[in-house]
Amino acid sequence: MEKSADTMEKIVALSKRRGFVFQGSEIYGGFVGSYDYGPYGVELANNIKAVWWKSMVQKEKNIVGLDSAVVTHPKVWEASGHVGGFSDPLVECNECHTRSRADHLLEDKDIFADEKMSEEEINKLFDSHRDKLTCPKCGQKDFGEIKALNLLVKSNLGNFSDNWNEDPSYLRGETCQGIYINYKNVLDSARVKIPFGIAQIGKAFRNEIAPRQYIFRKREFEQMEMQMFVSPDSGMEKFEEWKEKRMQYYLDLGFKAENLRWHEHENLVFYAKAAFDIEYNFPFGYKELEGVHARGDYDLTQHQKFSDTSMEYLDQKNNEKYIPHVVETSVGLDRTFLAVMTEFYDEDELGGDTRIVMRFPKKLAPIKVAVFPLLKNKPDLVAKAEEVFSLVAEEMRAEFDDNGNVGKRYRRQDEIGTPHCVTIDFETLGEENSDLKDTVTVRDRDTGEQERVAIADLIEYLK
Ligand code: GAP
Repeated sequence: MEKSADTMEKIVALSKRRGFVFQGSEIYGGFVGSYDYGPYGVELANNIKAVWWKSMVQKEKNIVGLDSAVVTHPKVWEASGHVGGFSDPLVECNECHTRSRADHLLEDKDIFADEKMSEEEINKLFDSHRDKLTCPKCGQKDFGEIKALNLLVKSNLGNFSDNWNEDPSYLRGETCQGIYINYKNVLDSARVKIPFGIAQIGKAFRNEIAPRQYIFRKREFEQMEMQMFVSPDSGMEKFEEWKEKRMQYYLDLGFKAENLRWHEHENLVFYAKAAFDIEYNFPFGYKELEGVHARGDYDLTQHQKFSDTSMEYLDQKNNEKYIPHVVETSVGLDRTFLAVMTEFYDEDELGGDTRIVMRFPKKLAPIKVAVFPLLKNKPDLVAKAEEVFSLVAEEMRAEFDDNGNVGKRYRRQDEIGTPHCVTIDFETLGEENSDLKDTVTVRDRDTGEQERVAIADLIEYLK
């Protein structure tokens, strides 16, 4: 199916109607930049995390996992540079006082603005286009000066000085800092040798002033990050290796190559050696999905300085000491979720009906198999279907549905991307043809074709 401008609306509507994504705090009128994952959403999100973990940890012999704290010593964020510099350029409309991000106002007029531009660059660009830029709320063109808004979310947890709020702690703005501060612990406990990686999945928080594009930019979101610690001379080689691996990951998941592309950062932060983003063709255009960055020794050097703890590595083979360089791969779970919804959303005609079908790869599908008794009011059918449900539910996420006619039940499962539906009918009970006793009908989501399978072979068939 060709994706068009209304694809986004369709995905948002389906996500709410079928319990993938709900607006956060909806009964209180919503809460900007906050979304909740519903019953199928949480299954899909968990599957995305499991696929990432399998690819980054399980299948990599020199990558280990970590789950670090969300709230850390505040010095972590001074060392990382977030307290001083991690900010968004904000302008206020002089007419209605709505605050907007300067780079977004520029983007809305198709003037290229990168969120990684320096403050000076954004200021210059904004000033040179002031006459074109309009307030999204009231349409006026009169703005104040750009102000930098710090993105870190402050917390009053863990205040430890006498000055109370003078010493705030922060909710982490990115998960990788938890990895850097545990690099020594991992080195000393996990018997790893450079090059090795640490992977982590977890929540991150940012005071995004203009969260937008649905779950693309949230204030509370989840990151899946891996930091590879390498020797200074092999940094660029590892970087190229990971660039290739991360693009292949999306292709292996079933994404079309034409929906993915590389974007090279033109304005590198001073410490970075190279930075590329994988962009996905979202319904609102190509946007960053994942970053693959060669960060040099900046992060560990900063933590060494601020914590007074040596971050040096002793390379016993060459009897050399150095601070390792870092190659990072960082992707948002929520952005992957939206990319997956976009990539696999489809509409087609089957048996004369138009249907919505989520063509999720099996490993991502929220429900792997749905089990139906043909009729709800026949206790023998229902009992047998419950037996089959228990059998498959032992092995995979399954759903039991006895509501409405079987055609409608198929449509409901197509919409949530269930690869197989299993129907228990009178033949299963051996009432009409004893040869078919203890067999069921298995229907394929993509082709609509049905096959008769013995219950004894069902698990193997579904797997
Ligand atoms: N450690 C590097 C880092 O955090 P980033 O480009 O700021 O770099 C990495 O974020 C990834 O996290 C992005 O590519 C994106 O997928 C996701 N991400 C960042 N901000 C987000 C937000 N506000 N909402 C959802 N996802 C976000």
